[in-house]
Amino acid sequence: MAESNKYAILRPLFTDQSHYAKAFKYCMSVADNLEAIQKWTNESFCEHVVEKLVADIGEGTDDKLLRVLGVGSGSGEIELLFLDKLLIKFPHIHSCVVEPCADLLEKYQAKVEENAMGITYDWQMYKLEDFVANQQENSQKYHFISAISSMYYVKDLNQALRSLHDMLAPGGILLVTIAADSTGYGKLWRTFPYLGSETSSQDESPESAAASSHHRDSGHVHDALRQLQIPYYIDDEYAFQTKITQCFDAKQSEEGDLMLDFLTHTIRFREAPKDLYQQVLACIKESCVQNGGDWFFQSKSVCFFITKL
Ligand SMILES: C[S@@+](CC[C@H](N)C(=O)[O-])C[C@H]1O[C@@H](n2cnc3c(N)ncnc32)[C@H](O)[C@@H]1O
Repeated sequence: MAESNKYAILRPLFTDQSHYAKAFKYCMSVADNLEAIQKWTNESFCEHVVEKLVADIGEGTDDKLLRVLGVGSGSGEIELLFLDKLLIKFPHIHSCVVEPCADLLEKYQAKVEENAMGITYDWQMYKLEDFVANQQENSQKYHFISAISSMYYVKDLNQALRSLHDMLAPGGILLVTIAADSTGYGKLWRTFPYLGSETSSQDESPESAAASSHHRDSGHVHDALRQLQIPYYIDDEYAFQTKITQCFDAKQSEEGDLMLDFLTHTIRFREAPKDLYQQVLACIKESCVQNGGDWFFQSKSVCFFITKL
């Protein structure tokens, strides 16, 4: 069987948004991602975003509004951590949230009270590409834009980064986080570029399969920013782990299935051809540490800071 044909029966996860939302939510419930980013927010975010914004555009005042844009905000847990820190220096914030998945957007909306604590919201249930297409020329610019683990899903990464950079106000900061290419998700997806690909076909090269799947990582963001000649600096990465013991249980469970679907970005990965299934599970195990009978998948996110002069 041609290598790419083994994948033909597997549907990419993002073709079913509600299954995606369920798998993502389950995965987050067994990961320490939020704790890791909370710690990162208290330290690096305050230094590289809040303090830098204060230095470059000045503190917020009663008539000075900080304009913030979230891209692929999910259910908002991470952006709300950021907003809490920004509020300390900028008491009036307008937050535009671009999130295409209805389930996740509703969860975000349920967490916030409109205009509470000086934040107003603009909810945009769109993909970034459609949001950008709807923008008028000379539309508002943003002082802070975050794209946390969402650049996997945009169709054209260069175009997306270019558009986000264009939407920055002078002195503004764009923060992009994405899986490191060397560990965890990045390593798994580099090893199996056809997984989750929307156009699995016999003649597709691994490179085009990776491009049509959602398997981008820090290496792709580096390359895109260099090609676009957009200056950036990376100061940081944060590590997190996900408890995935049920993926390896002989007895099938809904939790194990959801976890495997999220890791592989396919729907019902358990139904994959046996040899592929075993190879992928072995690769996942390589990024795990075992503790007290449980398996913990180790991953890292790289944080890119992009500023507009
Ligand atoms: C891995 S989740 C991250 C969610 C959130 N930022 C977090 O870290 O908790 C990726 C998010 O990107 C959203 N997304 C998918 N395609 C997108 C697109 N084309 N433009 C913007 N967001 C997209 C998904 O719906 C999902 O909420």
